[in-house]
Amino acid sequence: MDIRKLDAQNWLTIDKNYMAEHQVRSQLLQQEKQKVLQCLPESYEACLEALEEVVDFLCQRFPDKFEHKRSGDESTVHNKVTSETFVFGGQNKQVDPLEIAVRLTMEDLSILMKNADDEYYLAASASLFPVGWTVQERIGWTISRLHEPVPLWHQQVAASVSKFLNRLTPSSPMERSNYFVEVKRSDEDLFETLYRPTTLFEDNPNPSPEDIVIRRERQTFRRLPRTGALVFGVKTFLTTLNELPMQELRNLAKEIKSWPDYVGEYKGREVWGAKALEFCEKRSREEEKLKEEVGMMEV
Ligand code: HEM
Repeated sequence: MDIRKLDAQNWLTIDKNYMAEHQVRSQLLQQEKQKVLQCLPESYEACLEALEEVVDFLCQRFPDKFEHKRSGDESTVHNKVTSETFVFGGQNKQVDPLEIAVRLTMEDLSILMKNADDEYYLAASASLFPVGWTVQERIGWTISRLHEPVPLWHQQVAASVSKFLNRLTPSSPMERSNYFVEVKRSDEDLFETLYRPTTLFEDNPNPSPEDIVIRRERQTFRRLPRTGALVFGVKTFLTTLNELPMQELRNLAKEIKSWPDYVGEYKGREVWGAKALEFCEKRSREEEKLKEEVGMMEV
């Protein structure tokens, strides 16, 4: 599962892409709200607690960007980067707390709760940058149903994930990374590249290295102390193949070759695999040549 301890200081990220992605997130919440945001009624308290945690974290970690004021049981958070202000808590129930949370963060956030069969299910989710799914179709699904398309999930992963989720405590947040490879059209904008509810592969039969995107997800797992629900965070990072450092490119090539067919098929290797390997070999040759030239100059 490749899960590591999460340094609580690094739960949420603010990076140089904040404004550009914030605009995409606002547009999605305006135009595609039902597809990207769903909160079942029983998740309200957990969503509110998640928002409180998000606000506390952002104000402590990035005090130059976020400000929080409390008045009785009502809270006001001001985003100094976007000049937005949100009021929550008390009688303020018009805007979903999870919506406010993901309008502040770069992370997508989901709330997992236990059902009557003692299984975790998706009780609320703001998944704005999904990979081949929407929360509109999958809200309420259990973890095992969510992962049905994943090769060998039930045989090799399901039991460990269930144990892992049960053992999470508020003081032991965890993280893991996952990546997908995406093919875009060369004229695509950031909205289209990030919001992929149906397919990761745009119709581009001859993608250049600039059109092949390594889409890394940094996933975080935390248990909320008051409600006991779990918060699942996903930060998406996009790097095109030509921007990958040589060692990462080599690792990718090694991994692509090691996948059995059923994993290759799930990952879409037939769409982008040959191009990626070709590019890696070309870069390796260029690097070797450069080393030789430098070696000759030194002699
Ligand atoms: C330790 C916990 C978890 C592990 C090890 C895990 C692992 C995976 C893996 C290996 C994949 C296949 C992606 C790939 O490698 O290409 C996947 C897909 C996915 N995961 Fe998870 N996951 C975990 C938790 C979660 C949670 C909490 C959610 C809740 C939203 C979730 C939702 C999904 C979805 C929607 C997919 C896409 C499935 C599809 O292809 O339709 N995962 N996960």
